[in-house]
Amino acid sequence: AAWEKQVRHSSTPRRPNGFSVLVTGAAGFIGSHCSLALKKRGDGVLGLDNFNNYYDPSLKRARQKLLSKHQIFIVEGDLNDGPLLTKLFDVVPFTHVLHLAAQAGVRYAMQNPQSYVSSNIAGFVNLLEVAKAANPQPSIVWASSSSVYGLNTENPFSERDRTDQPASLYAATKKAGEEIAHTYNHIYGLALTGLRFFTVYGPWGRPDMAYFFFTKDILQGKPIDIYKTQDQKEVARDFTYIDDVVKGCLGALDTAEKSTGSGGKKRGPAQLRVYNLGNTSPVPVGRLVSILEGLLTTKAKKHVITMPRNGDVPFTHANVTLAYKDFGYKPTTDLATGLRKFVKWYVSYFGIEPRVKKETQHTDESG
Ligand code: NAD
Ligand code: UGA
Repeated sequence: AAWEKQVRHSSTPRRPNGFSVLVTGAAGFIGSHCSLALKKRGDGVLGLDNFNNYYDPSLKRARQKLLSKHQIFIVEGDLNDGPLLTKLFDVVPFTHVLHLAAQAGVRYAMQNPQSYVSSNIAGFVNLLEVAKAANPQPSIVWASSSSVYGLNTENPFSERDRTDQPASLYAATKKAGEEIAHTYNHIYGLALTGLRFFTVYGPWGRPDMAYFFFTKDILQGKPIDIYKTQDQKEVARDFTYIDDVVKGCLGALDTAEKSTGSGGKKRGPAQLRVYNLGNTSPVPVGRLVSILEGLLTTKAKKHVITMPRNGDVPFTHANVTLAYKDFGYKPTTDLATGLRKFVKWYVSYFGIEPRVKKETQHTDESG
């Protein structure tokens, strides 16, 4: 019962007509930022996370601690636990779900393919099954990925571009999520909005991502691999700063249609919405490294290699016209600015002494 009290308290909105949002993956990078932003503006937030050890769970615990300071409670549980999810929806009449829990990372899918199927397909279906049966039915905004564009060579990527060449199992499960969402929208009238995030980075980020472990390795004097494509071109990403992505997530929640259920005359919401949330300016990985070198005042030991066939795609580049038109999404942080904020967080979080440039001695002996 103490648990139920926490759940209710955390998810009760504090602003008139505020939302009550279930944030899955709330101990994760994007989930923790979104939870704080929703709470700050007065929405009710309840988190769900299984605290898995894909990357250092102590970072997830630290994010949880930060959220608890803001009266955000995270239920520890798995997307595949149907009875737990049903119980949460019984206790709280969620108006919205921000579904960010997933097995992320493109390269790890070669080592542990089952974890992608379990969280991104089975877990997503389980959540949708519970949501469709809930009363009221929540509107759902969920994380897709730029990786669905796969080996597409259109530049920039628009939502209607082809997504039939996933390069990794991760991408395939994210693409499958979009197909599954379509079905639940069609049959059960669930309002669903998919967000295709483009390589999101920033404070409290993911240690498995390049910008994060490059920072660590550069500081420790360890060599880093910089990928080039098979035809020796630079690999580039449309790196997107976390605050821009958070604004996009909130905008998508604010403009989400209401779920209509399958019982009524309506066939369901008119459409399943899918949006790119990128930065619209791809940056080569080499440039990412040189910005980090500048910020860390340390030269990287660069090892330029041809990209192995590991699920990576040669480049990403978002066209965000649709998200701008529908909810005013406009990225405002360039990579150098965003990385400066990341490095500031990194050195503070890990308690690293910043390298201070020796002040040049000034004397009065001029002239
Ligand atoms: P993250 O790994 O930091 O967060 C995901 C969280 O979900 C983790 O805390 C994890 O413990 C939890 N989780 C995983 N499987 C679960 C399960 N079965 N049940 C309950 N909890 C589970 O990743 P992130 O970067 O914050 O990504 C959030 C979402 O955005 C993911 O869906 C990811 O695929 C997607 N995405 C991220 C990026 C990016 O660059 N960060 C880009 C595109 C898409
Ligand atoms: C990121 C996330 O990790 C995925 O979860 C997410 O779905 C994806 O963005 C997305 O946008 O959909 P990725 O772009 O591969 O995937 O991000 P990183 O793993 O940080 O890699 C960034 C770039 O660095 C890539 O171009 C990659 O090829 C390159 N890289 C990575 C290297 O050059 N060397 C390395 O050792 C590792």
